Amino acid sequence: MQCFRALRYFSVWSQVPMGPADPILGVAAQFKADPSTTKVNLSIGAYRDNDGKPVVLESVKRAEQIIKEKKLDNEYLPVEGLQSFIDASIKLGYGDAYYAQNGKSIAGCQVLSGTGAVRLGFEFSKKFLPQGTKVYMPNPTWPNHHNIARMAGLEISEYRYFDPKTRGVDFSGLVEDLNKAQNGSVILFHACAHNPTGCDLTTAQWTQLLDLTKKKNFLPFFDMAYQGFTSGDVNKDAEAVRLFTAQGVPIVLGQSFAKNMGLYGQRTGCLSFVCSNQQEKDKVVSQLKLLARPLWSSPPLHGARVADIILNTPELNQLWLQEVKMMANRIQLMRVGLANTLKSLGSPHDWSHISKQIGMFAFTGVGPDHVKELIAKYHIYLLSSGRISIAGLNEGNVKYVAEAFHDVTKNTKL
Ligand SMILES: Cc1ncc(COP(=O)(O)O)c(C=O)c1O
Repeated sequence: MQCFRALRYFSVWSQVPMGPADPILGVAAQFKADPSTTKVNLSIGAYRDNDGKPVVLESVKRAEQIIKEKKLDNEYLPVEGLQSFIDASIKLGYGDAYYAQNGKSIAGCQVLSGTGAVRLGFEFSKKFLPQGTKVYMPNPTWPNHHNIARMAGLEISEYRYFDPKTRGVDFSGLVEDLNKAQNGSVILFHACAHNPTGCDLTTAQWTQLLDLTKKKNFLPFFDMAYQGFTSGDVNKDAEAVRLFTAQGVPIVLGQSFAKNMGLYGQRTGCLSFVCSNQQEKDKVVSQLKLLARPLWSSPPLHGARVADIILNTPELNQLWLQEVKMMANRIQLMRVGLANTLKSLGSPHDWSHISKQIGMFAFTGVGPDHVKELIAKYHIYLLSSGRISIAGLNEGNVKYVAEAFHDVTKNTKL
């Protein structure tokens, strides 16, 4: 009997198939396992300093000191999260003026970083939008967008975003696809620093999309995971969000503090909905709580406290804004450094798109075979799509990376 039981328990999960590695996290794991001393990780979207080290911002350290001195407890947050953090996030995203006038009708909820914002937003859309409402995503997009929509049970469609020939936005393709989309669809936009292409829309293009949104009654869902990382200015990077809200468009906004505060592992984020009045806002919040309760019950405390202190303490806020600018500037310097070094090495290819693209990533244009060679021969890790995280470059490795890119591409077409 005992033997039978042991056998039965042993085989309970035997039918479970091995899951494929995540396309981004899998490369990061490969990098970690590589013993090479010259290896370079350009796969993961996390900021690194000029020595290639992870950074804890000075503003974060000071906020953590304040938390320590206050000797705060570790009690649960309410399901919707830390209210002063939510209010400050909304103010940061929508801008002070809009918040002062309309803050009372914005429904906000603390979420598990940018991923949690998209997940809760999609769960909410699935539950409350008419059945069959599709979510349109840019092609390409952050691959996890697809996983999240699938898990939330939303039907996915794509709109063209990138033109490999120009290595820029395929705006006419984008407009053509969205013109064909059903009225009332959810349209996922990267508010800034598009991942993976590094190509954002111009103000004129956003304005055209705003008109299309109004005409087709779309629900724009702005995923803003990199506010400040594009231009170094958090207000400038929120331009699209503010353009739409200024015209009274009811948007959904997902905010992450992973990148711009370096709170990656703290899972700090906010999801908000523009509602038409306070009553509607209260109802939306009540439903967000019902969805969040069985997902995570109560959001993480520490990161929200840190962000709350930084956003609500004028000196720390100033310091943080300078640090955001510093990170964005270093990334920009590395973009130019890589493109210029490739040129000076005599590369037959035009790499100027690397310095023209923005945000944390560059869509280099190298193909999967180049990527394999870069990994095998040079221990330089990047995504098979050719996407690199510019934040992984520094003065110590940019020449090595440029030489490797030149070597694997010099005799091939791109
Ligand atoms: C476009 C986009 N959205 C959301 C996220 C989610 O980030 P996190 O959950 O770490 O805040 C990322 C992270 O890479 C991203 O690139």
